[in-house]
Amino acid sequence: MANKVLVIRSSMIKKELSYSESLVSRFVKYYREFHPEDSIIELDLNQIPMASITITQKNFTSYFNEKDSDYYINQLKNVNKVIYTTPMTNFNVTSMTKNYLDHILVAGKTFDYKYTKQGEARGLLPHLKVQILATQGAPYGWYLWGNHATYLKGTWEFVGAKVVEPILICGTKVQELHQNDANLLIGSKILAKGGGLPALGPEKTIDKFEQYIKEAAKKF
Ligand SMILES: Cc1cc2nc3c(=O)[nH]c(=O)nc-3n(C[C@H](O)[C@H](O)[C@H](O)COP(=O)(O)O)c2cc1C
Repeated sequence: MANKVLVIRSSMIKKELSYSESLVSRFVKYYREFHPEDSIIELDLNQIPMASITITQKNFTSYFNEKDSDYYINQLKNVNKVIYTTPMTNFNVTSMTKNYLDHILVAGKTFDYKYTKQGEARGLLPHLKVQILATQGAPYGWYLWGNHATYLKGTWEFVGAKVVEPILICGTKVQELHQNDANLLIGSKILAKGGGLPALGPEKTIDKFEQYIKEAAKKF
């Protein structure tokens, strides 16, 4: 069966300078090669007004409207895979990602009511399979309390999705070589260490990790 794959980008960094952009582009390139029958739908949160709207007292009653909320929930109901990319921004996902999630996490639409009993909420998007592609400036482990990839994984699982092991590229801002600094994780497995990613830049960093990205794209 051919899949419909929604690719969501949420980096505020210019495409030519962006590690997450290089990561998602390479992942999608290989995904297309291994799954030529599937169709790809692109959603860049920089380009859609809803992802710049933060929920406040002033807009609360009109926030979950058809254009900003239902449209994107229906989009998720009409695809079966999501590739989601986000860089760490002040220890969390980007604000665009948070705004997107605030619009699509709606009781009765993407999950059953969450305040009944712990663990009893039911995700309403069980048909989705999700691949998270994350980046961060610091090497893995420097600020474990700010784990955007884990937060995003838990959030997609909450709506019932099956989330495969996230790919996390870390240390995009730390030039010094630190032997023990992790630069690439898939799930909890550290696959590369050493630092030096800023000197390589986005494309050469992805070249360096190519085999893992290719393998993950094939499996997804
Ligand atoms: C406003 C801002 C806040 C950031 N906050 C963090 C942070 O809290 N922790 C971290 O490790 N990196 C942080 N970074 C670095 C980015 O995660 C990193 O440079 C990332 O690679 C940028 O996105 P890109 O992958 O699309 O290039 C921040 C970058 C910006 C621009």
